Amino acid sequence: MTTQGMRTHYCGEINAAHIDQTVTVAGWVHRRRDHGGVIFIDLRDREGLLQVVADPDSAEVFREAERVRSEYVLVVRGKVRHRPPGTTNPKLASGEVELLAERFEVLNAAETPPFHHDEQASEDLRLRYRFLDLRREEMTQRLRLRHRVTQVLRNFLDAHGFVDIETPMLTRTTPEGARDYIVPSRTHPGKFFALPQSPQLFKQLLMMSGLDRYYQVARCFRDEDLRADRQPEFTQLDIETSFMTEDDIMSIMEALIRELFRKILDVELPDPLPRMTHSEAVERFGIDRPDLRIPLELVEVGDLMRGIEFKVFAEPATDPDGRVAALKLPGGGTLSRKEIDDYTAYVARYGARGLAYIKVNDPAKGREGLQSPILKFMPDATVAGLMERLAPAAGDLVFFGADKRKVVNDSLAALRVKLGHDRGLVAAGWRPLWVVDFPGFEWDPQEKRWAALHHPFTAPKVASPADLEGDPGRALSRAYDMVLNGTEIGGGSIRIHTEAMQSAVFRVLGLSAEEAESKFGFLLRAMRYGCPPHGGIAFGLDRLVMLMCGATSIRDVIAFPKTQTASCLMTDAPGEVSPLQLKETGIRVRTAE
Ligand code: AMO
Ligand code: AMP
Repeated sequence: MTTQGMRTHYCGEINAAHIDQTVTVAGWVHRRRDHGGVIFIDLRDREGLLQVVADPDSAEVFREAERVRSEYVLVVRGKVRHRPPGTTNPKLASGEVELLAERFEVLNAAETPPFHHDEQASEDLRLRYRFLDLRREEMTQRLRLRHRVTQVLRNFLDAHGFVDIETPMLTRTTPEGARDYIVPSRTHPGKFFALPQSPQLFKQLLMMSGLDRYYQVARCFRDEDLRADRQPEFTQLDIETSFMTEDDIMSIMEALIRELFRKILDVELPDPLPRMTHSEAVERFGIDRPDLRIPLELVEVGDLMRGIEFKVFAEPATDPDGRVAALKLPGGGTLSRKEIDDYTAYVARYGARGLAYIKVNDPAKGREGLQSPILKFMPDATVAGLMERLAPAAGDLVFFGADKRKVVNDSLAALRVKLGHDRGLVAAGWRPLWVVDFPGFEWDPQEKRWAALHHPFTAPKVASPADLEGDPGRALSRAYDMVLNGTEIGGGSIRIHTEAMQSAVFRVLGLSAEEAESKFGFLLRAMRYGCPPHGGIAFGLDRLVMLMCGATSIRDVIAFPKTQTASCLMTDAPGEVSPLQLKETGIRVRTAE
């Protein structure tokens, strides 16, 4: 058996150390140049490029080289030599040398590709020809980084006693807040499997089986609105442990992430990672996944606005569901009217009905030193209070949001991030943190019922089921999210491990005993037979890799991703199925009326 196959070396491996050696390389024609009599071919494989020279002195080699075009597949044997002085390419690992071809074989021809490597082709075209797009060095490097990331994660978990166990893809609903992808059953017409939104229930059951420490690089499926950091099928590093508190789990999980950054990027993350409560995150940043690289914060000013003449501010200031907050932008006085209008339009996407502002020309001059259309509505005490609280410098600008709490939080959180990027305020580096003490349940005013903020298996921070049912809105949960540079990279919790508490949570969520039994009977049953206290976490592997390689979309770190509308342009999935397949699964397709 030869481990090298047709080649002796990768193209990108060849360097001055190989001079005068005879080597065989194989790969794709990256570029071909005809220099009046001599043909140069940049041959590419996954390790890089090597310049191959076809000289007319070897007539057969030259004839073959003349007919090759971009992306032809070749195997070439020859002798490595120095490039002539003045023709070396310092940008290339193999830039000092070239291969003088002695044997030259075209293994396969290629049609002219729909786009060239260096070209900025549209994403649709790149997705349709994904196999070509992945030939780009940047893409290859990302996939290989992803491989190294999973390797480091697996090694760490193995060293800490975690066991890799696979869980089913064809299963029942595992609610994580999205719609299920469903699969019809042929053997049970009219019945459906759901693809897992996560392995959540199976990993809990493995704890009940006594496996103690589980992990899996697990594919998850969620039919939800897609964004740059969301795919309908994505990968989690999924983890569960027994007999550990949240502090135990968080400490081992942050050690895992620290090791990852150390080994892959040579970066030391803080030890321990900072923690912030959910309520502090929302107060200061308007969001539960704050990007701490941006030095801007929301400041509460509602108390200064009560009873003032300007109803836009006065009303939310007295509404228990309202919020009035300020966001100071140092140096923002240079913003033009048009820029402010653009930011106003931007926050409108988040429901904001306006974006009031005050320009601070000279804070020492009090009211006279300020400039704003809303100043006239503000009594002196309010202005003085604002100045004291915000302590603006000359040249600053202060934005205001006033509305229902959710609108103010969503719009100012988004504005904060946008200003950070637009104004070059995003500090370099990595700012991870844990967000803890989430509320367990949120009231859904439309559906008029409680909804779980995390999945319904998360343990609430209450003494008893009666405590929980007495006031679900007050119960915090034993959940924790890991946030990195404004992206939620992982989330987990201590789980409920008694049937009484689990049933109480189902009741809070409005599930009848029958529904709870039919959907989650297996879980409730397992809890009756000796269920250990347990908890875990899942990291979004795609998101982690996206951040680590500086990509802006998780599509860039997934070999074969889906579009924003959850389709695959390369295979044309989803597609139609045959009438027989429909018949066998007992399905009739309704055509749109
Ligand atoms: P959660 O739903 O928070 O928790 O998911 C865990 C992590 O998975 C990533 N993620 C996604 N990545 C890409 N595309 C998506 N559509 C997507 N949805 C989620 C995020 C997120 O932090 N079973 C629980 C975990 C647990 O409690 O142990 C769960 O799935 O980075
Ligand atoms: P108006 O009284 O509508 O002319 O608004 C005066 C200023 O307040 C303008 O700069 C608006 O953009 C701003 N504004 C209006 N509604 C809100 C709101 N809900 N939150 C923040 N600013 C607002």
